[in-house]
Amino acid sequence: MIFSSPDQCPAWRALSDLAAQASSLNLTRLFEADPTRAERFSLEAAGLFVDYSKNLITDEILEQLVALARETGLETRRAAMFAGDRINETENRSVLHVALRDYTEDKYLVDGEDVMPLVQAELRRMQDFCARVHSGRFTGYTGKALTTVVNIGIGGSDLGPAMVTDALAPYSVEGRRTYFVSNVDGTHLKETLKNIDPETTLFVIASKTFTTQETMTNATSARDWFLGIGAATSDIAKHFIALSTNAEAVSKFGIDTANMFRFWDWVGGRYSLWSVIGMPIALQVGFDNFARLLAGAREMDSHFEGAPLSANLPALLALIGIWHRNFLNISAHAVLPYDQYLHRLSAYLQQADMESNGKSVTREGLSVPCATGPVIFGEPGTNGQHAFYQLIHQGTDVISADFIAPAISHNELGDHHRKLLANFLAQPEALMRGKSLEQVVSELSASGASDEEIERIAPHRKFPGNRPSTSILMERLTPETLGALIALYEHKIFCQGHIWGINSFDQWGVELGKVLAKNILPELSDLDEEKPLASQHDASTATLIDRINRMRKDAIA
Ligand code: F6P
Repeated sequence: MIFSSPDQCPAWRALSDLAAQASSLNLTRLFEADPTRAERFSLEAAGLFVDYSKNLITDEILEQLVALARETGLETRRAAMFAGDRINETENRSVLHVALRDYTEDKYLVDGEDVMPLVQAELRRMQDFCARVHSGRFTGYTGKALTTVVNIGIGGSDLGPAMVTDALAPYSVEGRRTYFVSNVDGTHLKETLKNIDPETTLFVIASKTFTTQETMTNATSARDWFLGIGAATSDIAKHFIALSTNAEAVSKFGIDTANMFRFWDWVGGRYSLWSVIGMPIALQVGFDNFARLLAGAREMDSHFEGAPLSANLPALLALIGIWHRNFLNISAHAVLPYDQYLHRLSAYLQQADMESNGKSVTREGLSVPCATGPVIFGEPGTNGQHAFYQLIHQGTDVISADFIAPAISHNELGDHHRKLLANFLAQPEALMRGKSLEQVVSELSASGASDEEIERIAPHRKFPGNRPSTSILMERLTPETLGALIALYEHKIFCQGHIWGINSFDQWGVELGKVLAKNILPELSDLDEEKPLASQHDASTATLIDRINRMRKDAIA
C-alpha cells in the first residue's frame, strides 16, 4: 500500500520508535561492535565512493528508512519522472533534466512526443557554435576572435554554470576567460566591464523566462555599454547570444533568434546547467568536456534509475537526510568540499536544495506533517575549519555534514594535497569520536596543569562527538565525476521532496518579494528627485523608504 503522507506510513511509526532510543546510539561503539560497518555502509557508483557509515544509523534504521521510501511510492515516482509524466503538478510540467544527458537510444516522452531529437539538435547547434568561437570563425565586430564570455543570468541561469566553470578550470581552453554577472547591484556589471575588451567579448544572456528583473537590467546595461563604445546596433548579433525558452522576449530584446539557443519548460531553472544554459561551461572548457560532464551525470542517472533502493546512493543519502531532519531534529546540513575548485558547490546546492525543498505545503495543498528541507551551507575545506566548524564541533545544535574530496589533486604541489586530505579525514573522525572530559583531564594533567587549572579549563576542551557525517571520495575531480556528483545531489533532493510529499520543482516562495519590489521601485527617488512620503506600507518599510529617499536627495544637494 502506498501512503501519500509520510507520517501515515508504518515505517514512519517504526522510525519514531527507533528515534526514541537513538540517544543510546554511539558511533564509536557501533564501529567497535561491528568491524564490517565501514564496508557495509559504503557504496560506489559513477566514480564516487560514498562512506555513510559515520551516520547515526543501524541496519534496523536503514531497513525502516528504505521501507518508508517504498511505502511512499518512491520507485513509482522515480519511474514517472523518467517517463516524462507531469510530476511538477503546480506548473503542469514534466521534469526531464535527465533527458539532457542521455546519449543512448532512449526515448523521453512529453505528451507522447519524443523530445530527444530536439535535445540532440540543440546540442549540435551548441557544439557547432563552440567550434566556431574557438576557431575564430565567429568573430566580433572588428574581426577579432571572441576570447571572453560574460554570462548574464541569475539563480539557475548563473549558479550551476558558474560553479561548474570554476570546478573545471583545469580543463579550460587556453586563452579563454569567463565572467558571471548576476546581481542587479550595478557594481557587479561595472566591475566586470572594467576587465573586458568589447571587441573580444561575447555576452551570453541566460534566462529561462527572459523576464527576470536582474538579468534583463544587466543585459540592457551591457547592451547600452556595448553600443556606447561605438559599436552599431547591427554589431549586437556578433556579441550577444541568448539562452532561453522564450523566443518572443529574446527577439524583442534585440537578439536575433538565430543567436538563441533553446531549452524547454520541462527543464527546471536550477536543473538547467545540462541544457544550453551550460553554454558558458562549454565555451570555457570545450564542448567535449561539457559532453563528459553530461556523461558522468548520465552514469549516476542509470544507477539511480536501476539500483534497488537499499543500494541506491541518491536514495540512501536522501533517507539518511530524512532520518536526520525528521527523527533526530537536525535542521542544518553542511556541504564541505575539500577542493578549492569546488568553492561554489555549496552556493549552488543552496539553490538546488533549498529552492526545491523549502516548502510547507503538500502536493495535495495541505500543510506538510513534518519538517522539510534543512538549511544548506558550507565553504571549502580547510577554510571553513577556521570559520564555522567550531559550532559544528561544540555548538548546541547537531549539524550533519558531507565531506567531499578527490584523492588526487590537479595541483600536486609539495605536500599540500596530503595535508588537505589529512584534514578531510580528520574532521569527520573528530566529529564522530569527540573527546570526553576524562580524556581532557588526563591530557591536561600529563602536561603538568594544576588541579585548579584543569577544573577551570577542562569543560571547554571537551567535544561531545557522535556527530554524523558522510564522506564522498573520488579519484580525481573530472568532468565525469563532477557530473555524477551534481546528479547525485539532484536525485537526493528529488527523493526527499517525494517522501515529504512536496513538489520539489516549483518555487512560488520567490514570487511575493519580487512583486513587492516592483511596487516599491517607483516610490524610490532618482538621485536628484523629491518623492512624496511613502504611505502604502507598514511603518517600518515606509520609514526606510523615506530615509533612503532623503539620503539620496541630500547626497546630490
Ligand atoms: O527567482 C527564482 C528563479 O525563478 C529561479 O528558479 C531561477 O533559476 C531564477 O529565478 C532565474 O530565472 P530565469 O532563468 O528565468 O531568469
